[in-house]
Amino acid sequence: MTEKTLLLIKPEGVIRGLIGKVIARLERKGLNISAIKLLKMSKSQSEALYSIHKTKEFFPKLIDHMTSSPIIAMVIEGPKVVSIIRAMIGATDPQDAAPGTIRAEFALNKTQNIVHASDSSKNATREIYIFFNQEEIISYEKPTEIEFLIGKIKEK
Ligand code: CDP
Ligand code: MG
Repeated sequence: MTEKTLLLIKPEGVIRGLIGKVIARLERKGLNISAIKLLKMSKSQSEALYSIHKTKEFFPKLIDHMTSSPIIAMVIEGPKVVSIIRAMIGATDPQDAAPGTIRAEFALNKTQNIVHASDSSKNATREIYIFFNQEEIISYEKPTEIEFLIGKIKEK
């Protein structure tokens, strides 16, 4: 069964030119991007996204940072995509993130940890609609490699 999740490239990821590197990993894994946009997050969007952390001491700094410059928002689709993407991004603190994960490879501190990803399917549904409406999310099938090759031969 395919699932959807929200993946954001945070301001520092955009500024540091890491958009392509993050997207390349999703494509290499075989996941589908069902929606994508660049936007400057509003205060209300960031407060809604991180509402669970409202009372934490890091909350004001996090909101300031997330609204400071543009982000990339994406809906990613695939089997078990919520847990797969969480594994690919690594632990919140880049110092604890497993080698090879996005946060381990690209980040040094918790606030500027390059990406956000939903942590459950239920939260994914809530978070996706902070950034996208139904019409912007396009599900599609990718042909398997062999189907792609057969298609190429038929074209000749
Ligand atoms: O992003 P993730 O789900 O891994 O972590 P979180 O616990 O939901 O926290 C949301 C975001 O708040 C993190 O990605 C960090 O950028 C930030 N944060 C922070 O700046 N300081 C902390 N002690 C914990 C989280
Ligand atoms: Mg979280």
